[in-house]
Amino acid sequence: MRTDVDHIVRLEDYLPSDFLIDRVELDVRLHPTATKVTATLSMRPNPAGRSDVPLILDGDEVNLKGIALDERALEAGEFEASPQSLTISQPPQHPFKLTIETEINPTANTKLMGLYRSSGNYCTQCEAEGFRRITYFLDRPDVLAVYTTRIEADREEAPVLLGNGNPVESGIIEGTGRHYAVWHDPFPKPSYLFALVGGRLGKIAKPFTTMNGREVEIAVYVEPGKEDRAGYALDALERSMIWDERVFGREYDLDVFNIVAVSDFNMGAMENKGLNIFNDKYVLASPETATDTDYANIEAIIAHEYFHNWSGNRVTCRDWFQLCLKEGLTVFRDQEFSSDERSRPVHRIAEVKTLRSRQFLEDASPLSHPVRPNQYREINNFYTATVYEKGAEIVRMLKTIIGDADFRRGMDLYYDRCDGTAATVEDFLKAFADVTGLDLSHFARWYAQSGTPRVEVRGHYDGTTQTYRLDFKQQTPPTPGQPTKEPMVIPVVLGLVTQDGQRMEAKCERVNSRGVFLLDKTEDSITFTGVSSRPVPSVFRDFSAPVKVSLDLTNEELIVLLRHDADAFNRWQAAQTLAMRTLAARSTGVPVSEDAMASLSSAFKGFLEEAALRDPAFAALVLSLPSDADIAQEIGQDVDPDAIHHARKELRGHLGKNCFEKLADFYHSLAPAKTYSPDAASAGRRSLRNAALDLLAAADPQAGEKLASKQFETATNMTDRLAALSVLMTIPGSLRESAIASFEERYRDEPLVLDKWFSLQAAIPEDTTVERVQRLMEHPAFSMNNPNRVRSLIGSFAMLNQVQFNRKDGAGYAFLASIVLRADELNPQLASRLLTAFSSWKMMESTRRNHARIALQSIAQKPSLSRDVGDIVNRSLE
Ligand code: PHE
Ligand code: ZN
Repeated sequence: MRTDVDHIVRLEDYLPSDFLIDRVELDVRLHPTATKVTATLSMRPNPAGRSDVPLILDGDEVNLKGIALDERALEAGEFEASPQSLTISQPPQHPFKLTIETEINPTANTKLMGLYRSSGNYCTQCEAEGFRRITYFLDRPDVLAVYTTRIEADREEAPVLLGNGNPVESGIIEGTGRHYAVWHDPFPKPSYLFALVGGRLGKIAKPFTTMNGREVEIAVYVEPGKEDRAGYALDALERSMIWDERVFGREYDLDVFNIVAVSDFNMGAMENKGLNIFNDKYVLASPETATDTDYANIEAIIAHEYFHNWSGNRVTCRDWFQLCLKEGLTVFRDQEFSSDERSRPVHRIAEVKTLRSRQFLEDASPLSHPVRPNQYREINNFYTATVYEKGAEIVRMLKTIIGDADFRRGMDLYYDRCDGTAATVEDFLKAFADVTGLDLSHFARWYAQSGTPRVEVRGHYDGTTQTYRLDFKQQTPPTPGQPTKEPMVIPVVLGLVTQDGQRMEAKCERVNSRGVFLLDKTEDSITFTGVSSRPVPSVFRDFSAPVKVSLDLTNEELIVLLRHDADAFNRWQAAQTLAMRTLAARSTGVPVSEDAMASLSSAFKGFLEEAALRDPAFAALVLSLPSDADIAQEIGQDVDPDAIHHARKELRGHLGKNCFEKLADFYHSLAPAKTYSPDAASAGRRSLRNAALDLLAAADPQAGEKLASKQFETATNMTDRLAALSVLMTIPGSLRESAIASFEERYRDEPLVLDKWFSLQAAIPEDTTVERVQRLMEHPAFSMNNPNRVRSLIGSFAMLNQVQFNRKDGAGYAFLASIVLRADELNPQLASRLLTAFSSWKMMESTRRNHARIALQSIAQKPSLSRDVGDIVNRSLE
């Protein structure tokens, strides 16, 4: 028999389910090691399915305790059960009721899929295939049912009992010490949106009135005693609800909306209907424990999960290949929300930075896959930057191409048509095609073709005819399974700027009134007329397409854009390109002239003098040079991380020295406000001040060490304290070590804060870091069972510490490989995510590449790998 590991699921093999489940009645009797689940499924053959086929329900590590069909217990021979499946070979041809009793052990569940315990509380995680770990089921997103859940538990152990939908009944079971609650969710949903929670939890709540006057109670549940850290999450939820009504006309549809924070969670959060379950990292915040970035992430993720109520729950996915249908769209929606609540250009730049560092990296790696993959071995491995972030970029491009009004009309049509159904990417695009009359079939290639397109842009000015021609060429590199590529439909938002920085009013009929030119061929040219002097082109404004751009601009022209472009994104991009040119050259041994260095620093200095205080958050982004990993990606092959690290350090020192006075000025004039507020403007001032501190320390480590220690000691909020500690991390010595010790002492009982402490230490670019990380694994606050701890310590080492993870002697790779194998025995999803740190291994120079291959092979050879890790390791080696 072929093992499960080899099984490949293909999009082209999709068939509707042969059976449907209309109603599910669940009775869950919570117990730490023996939870009993009785599921009563009202089923019928699917008219759209095959007839005369067996009924095969999915299972995963469940124990069957009893089974009855239409209330008659089935006898041996009438069914076949294993932990992985339950088969009834001759199911009825008419509607029937199947009653299944199973027993599960939530305490032993370290995979954090299905029903498990976190800090003693019971919770569930069912996406993608976790429901089958609770009971046997047709565990696929196109089987939609109405659920009624009765939860029973010990009153002491679990005073709070929550389910999907609305609460309908609760009570005490006299004489047993137990109680129960019944929840009913009137909206048909797939099993992956099922959830329940039972435990000791504190609550904060408030009423919300929807646009049509429905009264809803919105609430956040946290560990008792942490209620005062949940306020920002509740506030973000309320703002999300108002925003979705205003911007997309979407109203909430149940009487309650509950959010529960748990400490052990594989991902960020989960959009279960009416009962979102969150990693507590994305709920809990106070000025003393959370940074500005934490606040921004909480806001974005609360919004994301709430928005799923329409994009994901009311309209769900037909199959897991359509994951981007809900995820890409919902990321797009949460990005728009954050842009409206904060600074749009600053937020856009932050998005693009993550897209490039994660998605472009993935797309250039052996793990590259289309936004809608066409096959998978393990669906958990496809919750990727490509599906989420590139998926969001596709929605954004669609909006850029058709315009705001048609985009909104298309969204409305999509929701109208698909409400209550399990839809596909085709359904989504069809709504926009129908609203606009456009043929979107070529555009749809974005979902199918993987790899990051490269676009080369060349400008030609002709003074005699006063014309300016832009030549475009696009090409997408080969990716696994896709050796040759077709041209994409690429929206290029562009404008021209004069050499002295004015906006140029030139005409070109290929550019529409919104400044969009559609590049849909391999090569194309457009010509502007009435151009009285050589312009500087500003292309891909606001990052109008997820592509890599090569432009033949001189450094002087980039400086014109940095100073004057009307588009903030391209002002930032100009600074990045300038810095990247120097960094890439220096990292690969290409000499950079004194002149070029001088002009670079004078450009930064000029920017700081004229623009920085106008928008501090933007200025901080300009000052944050491309990371080590960004530079590695730019170089792309035979990468030497040590050379990169050195070049970056040198350039930071150089810029710091040349802008020293201005930076010191900022540092002192942007002194922290008396009381902390997480709003974007205040956060922006903190980020500029801390970016200044960082460069000052790069220029003069001694002075920087002093400033940073003082800031560390006197900080009144976590943002400033952590920024200071992070600067100290770059300066070896006793001050650093004593700051590390005092931070530990101060936050001894704050796991989420110690995560930051783990992470900073794991990122120290020194040869002793592997040993330091190994030592920290023995720290009482560390646990291999908790994903946040593992990601903070091990994940930061592998993803943020380019020089030490990619050590030339291979010790970083060997260390990660050993941890992946350990993690795999507890939590395969966690293990396989850590393993993706190897995705840049083929870019490395040969010594490192060989060490990485050996480390990967050592994993691949291990018998009994999980499907999660087996899939990633095999694709990484291909
Ligand atoms: N669907 C979740 C989201 O909002 C992510 C998730 C996937 C959570 C799988 C848990 C398990 O993006
Ligand atoms: Zn999501």
